Amino acid sequence: MGWMCCICGLSTVIYPISQGRKRHGPLESSPMMENPSLVLEKTLAIFGFPLGHTMSPVLHNAAAAALGEPYRFLAYEVRPERIEEAFRGSQAMGFAGLCITIPHKIAIHGLVDELSEDARIMGAVNVVVFEPGGKSVGHNTDGIGWLRSLEEETGETPEGKRCLILGAGGAARAVGVKLAQSGAAHIEIRNRTPEKAEALARFIGEKVPGSAVNGGGLDDLAEAAADREIIVHTTSQGMTGDPAREAAIPIPEEAIPSGVICTDAVYNPVETVFLKAARGRGARTVSGIGWFVNQGAAAWKLWTGTDMPKELTRKSVLEALGAA
Ligand SMILES: NC(=O)c1ccc[n+]([C@@H]2O[C@H](COP(=O)([O-])OP(=O)(O)OC[C@H]3O[C@@H](n4cnc5c(N)ncnc54)[C@H](OP(=O)(O)O)[C@@H]3O)[C@@H](O)[C@H]2O)c1
Repeated sequence: MGWMCCICGLSTVIYPISQGRKRHGPLESSPMMENPSLVLEKTLAIFGFPLGHTMSPVLHNAAAAALGEPYRFLAYEVRPERIEEAFRGSQAMGFAGLCITIPHKIAIHGLVDELSEDARIMGAVNVVVFEPGGKSVGHNTDGIGWLRSLEEETGETPEGKRCLILGAGGAARAVGVKLAQSGAAHIEIRNRTPEKAEALARFIGEKVPGSAVNGGGLDDLAEAAADREIIVHTTSQGMTGDPAREAAIPIPEEAIPSGVICTDAVYNPVETVFLKAARGRGARTVSGIGWFVNQGAAAWKLWTGTDMPKELTRKSVLEALGAA
């Protein structure tokens, strides 16, 4: 068992070395540190609301245990009206970093001291790194996480391909920017609220000059999907927790062209109704697990400088989901 250290305003957990945890990185000076039998454990956390579905603690704590890195990952449900307080508090308490999820990605974008190139272009932050002096740097690993999962699981890249994105929220924005940066031939965005798809198409067109992007509603999806090589589903349709939502498919089965690559943002369940239908139509499928692991692995690298053992952490997440 560890115990909390309140000295110097740190909320870090102190563990006896006898537990086999090793010292990592520069440690803030504290009277506790003069006792060589104790080390500080660095705190990482996810902030979101609601957070019932998150697998981030499983992913990152599995990585820390496997690598013997002294990090502990916690989950905090933070209401939107308190996100600035929570962010400042985590910075003051010496957290090493944060994952940021719905609905805080845009608010945190406005709070960090610096932005990475992807976070600046995407206008949203899903990862914060607190540097040793306390400076906060916002990153966005959603787009690169999706791209790496596509490459790893299909051997394909978006370059020169005609793509369809279903949904126009934060995940769609990250993937859309990454598709455009990767040289997709054309990006069609379709969403329940057509105005949001049109706005996202304009946004991507402005951020990535030369990209060909179009937005619209869900009424003629069969036509929109007919000549596509990649379909990226980015809404919460198909996700567990609500039977009607879990049974919902974001595109009619008969509209999925055979030979297309279908990727899903949803990873719980791993085999969504959409992916099952896509496979039945002869499509290649990529579940949301690879996306989730890769966005997390990119975050882990930013926080710790080490490579996440992705096969192992993927297995831990699948086990936690009861899908191993
Ligand atoms: N695998 C991963 O690593 C990963 C990474 C990022 C996100 N995700 C998942 O992706 C999903 C979306 O995340 P987000 O950040 O983009 O959320 P968001 O910004 O809130 O956007 C939600 C999107 O889903 C659409 N939508 C919601 N309910 C719908 C319904 N009943 N019918 C049709 N469309 C509906 C919304 O349409 P309107 O605009 O019409 O409201 C909007 O386009 C979540 O399930 C999230 O967990 C997974």
